[in-house]
Amino acid sequence: MRVTIFGTGYVGLVTGTCLAEVGHDVVCVDIDTAKVEGLNNGVIPIYEPGLEPMVKANHAAGRLHFTTDAASAIEHGDVVFIAVGTPPDEDGSADLKYVLAVARTIGQHLQRAAVVVNKSTVPVGTADKVRAAIAGELQNRRTTLVFDVVSNPEFLKEGDAVNDCMRPDRIVIGTDSPAALEKLKRLYAPFNRNHERIVSMDVRSAELTKYAANAMLATKISFMNEIANIAEQVGADIEAVRQGIGSDPRIGWHFIYPGAGYGGSCFPKDVQALAWTAQQSGCNPRLLDAVEAVNAAQKGHLFELMTRHYGDVRGKTVAVWGLAFKPNTDDMRAASSRTLLAQLWEAGARVQAYDPEATHEAQRIFGERDDLTLCGSAGEALRGADALVVVTEWKQFRSPDFGKLAATLADKVVFDGRNLYEPAEVENAGLAYYGIGRGRSVRSFA
Ligand code: UDX
Repeated sequence: MRVTIFGTGYVGLVTGTCLAEVGHDVVCVDIDTAKVEGLNNGVIPIYEPGLEPMVKANHAAGRLHFTTDAASAIEHGDVVFIAVGTPPDEDGSADLKYVLAVARTIGQHLQRAAVVVNKSTVPVGTADKVRAAIAGELQNRRTTLVFDVVSNPEFLKEGDAVNDCMRPDRIVIGTDSPAALEKLKRLYAPFNRNHERIVSMDVRSAELTKYAANAMLATKISFMNEIANIAEQVGADIEAVRQGIGSDPRIGWHFIYPGAGYGGSCFPKDVQALAWTAQQSGCNPRLLDAVEAVNAAQKGHLFELMTRHYGDVRGKTVAVWGLAFKPNTDDMRAASSRTLLAQLWEAGARVQAYDPEATHEAQRIFGERDDLTLCGSAGEALRGADALVVVTEWKQFRSPDFGKLAATLADKVVFDGRNLYEPAEVENAGLAYYGIGRGRSVRSFA
């Protein structure tokens, strides 16, 4: 099938590439000329495992095209996807200006019947706004055309996006048009093998499904972080508690890892946007507000532990392992590391940071500053440092030589924001250890 995708960000680029991979003829449109030029020359703007070779192969095979020419791209597609960003507005609501701009562009250039599919994460009711924006432009052109607007939210995780896209656990399609549903079923048929993954529903339910999924996951994390804080105070170990509850299939093992708080482009923004939608519709989002508040506090927890240990961190040099909001990505949007660094700087400490992928992103965000050194390796970050803080659980941070750490770190202390280490093992090497919700170690050093 002939597919057009507006937006070459995470969602658009991954979706377009995977659709090309299964044989569809895909045109990706972006207004960013440099990005499109780069993609046409094999420069992939994001780090995502497995994506680069797939983009290159499909581009070379002539199934994946990149352009800034919206008119010809709209001409191309039987199905036209909107996959542009919905950044949070000042009040926490999702800003629809990019989505609606694309909708107007579609209305300006559409020449034949089409299915317009919204993949961007948008509040309930947006499909109606997209429909109205397209219809408005058609009316300006005095043209009548049949078109459907479908909601088809994405559930891909950064760092595993290609895999999620190629092997989705569900494909949610929201539409009231049987013809549009049939078309999308054909489009997704190659991804729908072995058992039925397509869940079809009305448009508004599909729009709400995306927020419900992310809000539920964020809730699990905030819940665990709250229990971890209780564990810390009462001298219990959250890691034992986690194992004690995860085996109950009603609770499950996933997303019950306490840590330095959730970040990224989805959870923080989607929880806020859903709370906003709730308020607008007359509901009081008590739970969503709490999920958000717990997370905001949790992002400050590592600094709190450091203050508990040191009293004052002024003049300290702190090695920070991990800047990305999670492993296998270079994304630092809403990352916990940003909160920690800001707090350390505010308190007069220096930071020596290492991240396997996010160094250039950190450079872009922080620029040159005297109290930050971006290092080329985990070892380099430790040199001359007083303490180590682990913020992102990259695999390469999982089993350091604790003896060496004890010999290198002047103050012999490790703050483990992702509970990667066994407290006893770290302590046996002569280091003080602080994890998240690991009461036993906190007691011995308080
Ligand atoms: C998320 C959803 O998982 C995905 O389905 C949706 O489409 C987009 O949002 P993503 O933001 O890429 O994906 O990352 P995810 O792996 O879900 O992690 C989000 C944050 O939660 C990270 O900062 C991670 O460190 C944190 N997290 C996750 C925890 O603190 N504990 C956990 O148990 C799991």
